[in-house]
Amino acid sequence: MIGITGATGGVGSGTVRHLLAAGRDDVAALARRPEAVPPAPGLEARRADYDDPASLEAAMRGLDTLVVVSSDGLAETMVRHHRNVLAAADAAGVGRIVYTGILDADPATGFYYAPGHRATEALLQDRPHCVARTSVFADFFADTWLEEAQRTGELALPLGGAGMSLIARDDVSRALAALVLAGTEGVVELTGPVDATGEAIAAAASRATGTAVRYTPVEDADYRARLKADGEPDWLIEAYASMFTSVREGRFASAPGEVEALTGTPPMTFAQYLAAR
Ligand SMILES: NC(=O)c1ccc[n+]([C@@H]2O[C@H](COP(=O)([O-])OP(=O)(O)OC[C@H]3O[C@@H](n4cnc5c(N)ncnc54)[C@H](OP(=O)(O)O)[C@@H]3O)[C@@H](O)[C@H]2O)c1
Repeated sequence: MIGITGATGGVGSGTVRHLLAAGRDDVAALARRPEAVPPAPGLEARRADYDDPASLEAAMRGLDTLVVVSSDGLAETMVRHHRNVLAAADAAGVGRIVYTGILDADPATGFYYAPGHRATEALLQDRPHCVARTSVFADFFADTWLEEAQRTGELALPLGGAGMSLIARDDVSRALAALVLAGTEGVVELTGPVDATGEAIAAAASRATGTAVRYTPVEDADYRARLKADGEPDWLIEAYASMFTSVREGRFASAPGEVEALTGTPPMTFAQYLAAR
């Protein structure tokens, strides 16, 4: 049986969908709100709260493979959740873990989430596993930064002239399902096919919506000050600003070919994603 955590979320629900579409009839959707999982033939919804170890262990009984969709929020919270999930997987005798890590997990990076993902990857080393290091989601970028850009006509971000390999969440889910079915082990990188610069993102947004958006590069300190003035918490300011620093350092560059090699279909460009959204 195959379990997927975060199964009410974007990546988790997509992975469930792709596994069912591939003909699997032994899929368990692990969610803290199992009632929010849409019923489907071959799918069992099980209650699994990252903060409730007993619920995790019970939900993982009988799983051969568990897809661990990473948790979110404060880095400390994320790591605690991952520890709980992996301890429960041990206790329940789960055979193999497929984990959604982050593309920039370099020890030298300043990216806020990298140490937490590295710590989780270290916990995986003594068991059969696959780490799918994913780039920034196109959906996340659009939800977080494009709405304001469309309202103001300006995409003001500290991207410099660098590009980022934005990947649609559905392409991530498709690739995760393929990794599960193929029994892939080791590290794979899930990225979009090209590196979208601020200018390319603004152009794609302008085309998709008919509202002109232009890219304006801003300095890191000015971006942080803007988030602070908007009342964002310090950890979120660090998470966003350090991500853009990492992009400027080329740490979110495309790993072309990996998603297509896994799934047989190339991932969408950001422009294709926006046009289809
Ligand atoms: N690469 C990127 O650009 C990027 C951006 C953002 C996040 N991420 C990472 O990728 C992950 C998946 O992204 P996504 O877009 O699919 O996120 P999402 O749509 O927000 O889904 C998050 C999932 O985690 C579940 N969850 C949260 N707290 C939980 C808890 N205490 N116990 C059990 N389940 C819990 C949520 O359940 P509910 O439905 O009950 O809330 C939901 O199913 C994120 O969690 C984060 O680690 C990556």
